[in-house]
Amino acid sequence: MLGLKFEAVSCDWRGRIDPAALERRLAAGGVGTVVATIGTTATGSVDPLPAILELRERFKFRLHADAAYGGYFGLAANLSAETRRTYERLREVDSIVIDPHKHGLQPYGCGCVMFRDPEVGRFYKHDSPYTYFTSGDLHLGEISLECSRPGAAAVALWATQRLLPLVTDGDFARGLAAGRKAALTLYERVKGDRRFVTAAPPELDILVWAPRAARVSEASARARRLFEEAARRHLHLALAELPVEFFDLGRMEQDRPTLTCLRSVLMKPEHREWVDRIWAILDQAAG
Ligand SMILES: Cc1ncc(COP(=O)(O)O)c(C=O)c1O
Repeated sequence: MLGLKFEAVSCDWRGRIDPAALERRLAAGGVGTVVATIGTTATGSVDPLPAILELRERFKFRLHADAAYGGYFGLAANLSAETRRTYERLREVDSIVIDPHKHGLQPYGCGCVMFRDPEVGRFYKHDSPYTYFTSGDLHLGEISLECSRPGAAAVALWATQRLLPLVTDGDFARGLAAGRKAALTLYERVKGDRRFVTAAPPELDILVWAPRAARVSEASARARRLFEEAARRHLHLALAELPVEFFDLGRMEQDRPTLTCLRSVLMKPEHREWVDRIWAILDQAAG
């Protein structure tokens, strides 16, 4: 939207930004901002902030965190030690987006962007002859891209957080941990079954896997069939197209660079109680 130039930096087999590749790109110069993703949409991968912050010391860039999906997971008590280390450093980034309309229990239309230094608001200034403000302070009407808007989404978020405060020992945090536990449990089931191949363990509450086959093209076709068979039994999975390097393929012939895989987002606390049922349907659909 802003017409800024950008380049993609390669990621590792877990879908996280590769700090060595980032370092090489930074050393070549001309980088103003680095975007780290704290929970990717496809696999829930969390970029390693400690390594990226170390690079910021040396190369001086703005660091933006896209925590639209994963932002709330800092509250979950059952992250891996490595993922936890990223969340512990999240407050050090220059800006962060987090979407209450994803894990914050809100309907669409409730996204947040936060800046560590509010003074950057002056760069977003636009002007019109009919706007006026009663104080000289930075005003949201002047420094945001979306101008007239209803306040209902903000009030709904405020009310939700009064009811379910963002505290580590509260119901909201327990709900996040329950979804993650569900994803880990389902991952263990799939991993323990020879009919399937898996990727790295989930970092948040998203997991990806595929049916085992002689060739990647065949496994991809089977994933599509399983997607349909599961849907016929009211188990609605998702499909994703991911690099073959993400998966533990054993002897599967790699006749394609990407694998069409199955993807599940266990984002509701109820999913923890539903794992057995989900597995039973999956087992039947695969059969
Ligand atoms: C990591 C990530 N960033 C950004 C977005 C887009 O956010 P929005 O729904 O606010 O357009 C998504 C949505 O899926 C996402 O998962």
